[in-house]
Amino acid sequence: MLKKRPIIIDTDPGIDDALAIAIALFSGELDVRLITTVAGNVSIEKVTRNALRLLSFFGKEVPVAMGARKPLIGPLVDASDIHGASGMEGFDFPEPREDLLLQENAVNAMRRVIMASEEPITLVPIGPLTNIALLLSMYPEVSEHIREIVMMGGSVTRGNKGVMSEFNIATDPEAAKIVFDSGIPIVVATLDVGLKALVMPEDTQKLPDLGQVGQMAHCLFRKYRGGSFNTGLKMYDSCAIAYLLAPTLFETVDTFVDVELAGSLTKGCTVVDLKNYMKQPANAKVCVDIDGEAFRRWFLESVGKCI
Ligand code: BDR
Ligand code: CA
Repeated sequence: MLKKRPIIIDTDPGIDDALAIAIALFSGELDVRLITTVAGNVSIEKVTRNALRLLSFFGKEVPVAMGARKPLIGPLVDASDIHGASGMEGFDFPEPREDLLLQENAVNAMRRVIMASEEPITLVPIGPLTNIALLLSMYPEVSEHIREIVMMGGSVTRGNKGVMSEFNIATDPEAAKIVFDSGIPIVVATLDVGLKALVMPEDTQKLPDLGQVGQMAHCLFRKYRGGSFNTGLKMYDSCAIAYLLAPTLFETVDTFVDVELAGSLTKGCTVVDLKNYMKQPANAKVCVDIDGEAFRRWFLESVGKCI
């Protein structure tokens, strides 16, 4: 029998987060030991409620721990303009599974799960990196028990929050800097690949026939303004899960990544040093391209494995 890879998903659901979580939970290859929430797309109360509503709908029992309610330094500037007021607008979810919410906060819960694991855990942050930065700052001993961090965030080229900055990094640049400086192996599913990981209208039409999660996706996508329904919806967060399950979809480069903290126009930009101007050793494996057609097939197949 296939040994499942243990992961912790740190998330701010979020419509694309919802699909990423579904695919991870139903893949059969990942052992989701914990879901932690972080303020990002909407407030910490809303993203936590959304995580519990998703688990209720999926019929899955994964503990959830609530994390940071704001970035390390700045205020939270959310993305409710894209994900709707609740963060998962457009589908009638069942009541949240409040019983799955731990009393422990996200940082302590991550530490406990990591240290108790018989094999190193993979962290999968698909929101701002606030919780991960706090974890590494408070409990540095976890580092050697983390296999790698496979994140969605950052950009090689341009941004979607600022001209040069991607939402997850721009929301908490100081946290991102701590994570990139950590020395832990990092895989970055960038905005660049997210922009090519599109669910096209003809794919969306097929979703309702794929089951309950497909029906959920179809409803959420009608409300999701992160990309146009007609020109393709961008499945950013599913790229991190796709890297875990189907890494050959991606072209990657091992390189040095830093985060701009001071630039008045570029704060929150990931500086991806592809030409090694800074003469630094690589600290990340950066996804620079994706086979978009193969991703579409993978996405539909993955949603088809869900309920
Ligand atoms: C990221 O920003 C959020 O709005 C999405 O959920 C994704 O994690 C894309 O830039
Ligand atoms: Ca997200």
